[in-house]
Amino acid sequence: MSESSIRIPDKYSGYALSHFCVPKHYEDDLEDIMIPWGLIQDRTERLARDIFQDVRDEPLTALCVLKGGYRFYTDLLDKITTLNRSHGSVSVPINVDFIRLKSYENDESTGQIRVVGGDNLSGLRGQNVLVVEDIIDTGRTMEKLLAILANHGPKSVRVASLLVKRRQGSTGYRPDYTGFEIPDKFVVGYALDYNEYFRDLNHICVINENGKKKYAITE
Ligand code: IMP
Repeated sequence: MSESSIRIPDKYSGYALSHFCVPKHYEDDLEDIMIPWGLIQDRTERLARDIFQDVRDEPLTALCVLKGGYRFYTDLLDKITTLNRSHGSVSVPINVDFIRLKSYENDESTGQIRVVGGDNLSGLRGQNVLVVEDIIDTGRTMEKLLAILANHGPKSVRVASLLVKRRQGSTGYRPDYTGFEIPDKFVVGYALDYNEYFRDLNHICVINENGKKKYAITE
């Protein structure tokens, strides 16, 4: 793991829900707050600066991996475009693109990764692509996506992931830009979901057993 990401240790116990604002409808479903929204913003600001400095004047196609990546994507792009406005001598022209993948049911990967929607990838030919993802868990989704993208002839591909999970059974894949390296726990919020719930939560939180049971897909 690159030293340039923030490592949240296994023993870290997070913040009590009572210290921050959490929607009433999720109060009983969360263990703790792992990464408060404000810290996500501060870290994203730095990732935006790193990307801006690496890319400089080259046009960039920012590819959002839906749905989990959408909040990180909009915040990251906001911060890059702020640098574009304020820098004066350098700016990065940005195109936006979207792809939708599906691999998870409950808190387990189904092992099947499907492209279920998004833009026509033939538009990526010759482009410098920045893939923006919420979380790398086993790494299989990203490796599969990178193989799909390679078939469309991009000039270059970089990956920014807000989170990377430390877990056994990882493929060893590491993104170019990582916000936080986290323990092997199922996290929700800031667009990360559990069966489509919790995307409407600002902080990144650890789901508890009650939440897993309440929102489980049972059939
Ligand atoms: P991977 O293929 O195992 O790396 O899984 C990556 C995908 O699994 C992510 O894009 C998420 O959609 C989902 N995922 C993995 N871990 C979590 C989690 O803790 N919370 C929410 N989604 C997760």
